[in-house]
Amino acid sequence: MKKVRKAVLPVAGFGTRFLPATKSSSKEMLPLVDKPLIHYAVKDAVDAGIEQIIFVTGRGKRAIEDYFDISFELEYHLKFQGKDELIEDIRKISDMADFVYMRQKEPKGLGHAILRAKDVVGDEPFAVILADDVIENDESGTKQLLDVFNRYHCSVVGLEEVPPSDVSKYGIVSGKEIENRVFKLDNFVEKPSPDEALSNMAIIGRYIFTSKIFDEIEKVKPGKKGEIQLTDAILSLSKQEVVYGKIMDGKRFDCGSKDGFLKATVEFALNDNEIKDEFKKYLRKVVEC
Ligand code: G1P
Repeated sequence: MKKVRKAVLPVAGFGTRFLPATKSSSKEMLPLVDKPLIHYAVKDAVDAGIEQIIFVTGRGKRAIEDYFDISFELEYHLKFQGKDELIEDIRKISDMADFVYMRQKEPKGLGHAILRAKDVVGDEPFAVILADDVIENDESGTKQLLDVFNRYHCSVVGLEEVPPSDVSKYGIVSGKEIENRVFKLDNFVEKPSPDEALSNMAIIGRYIFTSKIFDEIEKVKPGKKGEIQLTDAILSLSKQEVVYGKIMDGKRFDCGSKDGFLKATVEFALNDNEIKDEFKKYLRKVVEC
């Protein structure tokens, strides 16, 4: 089985839940303390040994390309100010991986976005990372799935148990536990109502796929919201090959919602050596009032 070297990061969405902030800038560039969400997503891949990042972008996403490029003017300015260590930090970002950009011209769904990367991925297994889902853990989310992939050589999706009231926000799966926290999956439904839900196991934004997923995406008809749903393609894939699910270790933040984004901001700030003491004092004071 070929090695997983590439990750596809769909970033073409409008980020409507963060309007008006996302009217003129990308949701993926919202920062948790001092790094944008997309930085954490790329790091999740790179920490799993991924070498190439394929962004599927859309209009108004230029900031992402600039972030992972060399900024000659900024480096020149920092050099002039004698801030050499900052130059090094900034340069490291563009050296994280090899970056490729594809465009998704129309918002036709997550499955449709992933399909845009078909020719660049080729006939290899690959990862998919949704930047909205930030996972805080010693071992990256993608690395956790890769460990399962390397044992079974089949597609693997990241899972989390969610409260019944939240099932309609996610792709929901069912299956049989074959080892601690690893499931052989047999059904997949995109955003069911609580009474349609197969279980409370939700797909979260980490996946490893065999390249066969592309054929399945090409075949599926528009589903929920009239979009080409990745979950529908995974269901179809599971009828040809085994698909596994792994309940992820660590803490996941849904940074696609205001509530999740603010919780992540607070927790990341409380883990930041430079600001945590002051910030903790401040939070105590605010909460007391
Ligand atoms: C997407 C997927 C869904 C998955 C979720 C994870 O939904 O369609 O199956 O559970 O990501 O965050 P979205 O959050 O883009 O609506």
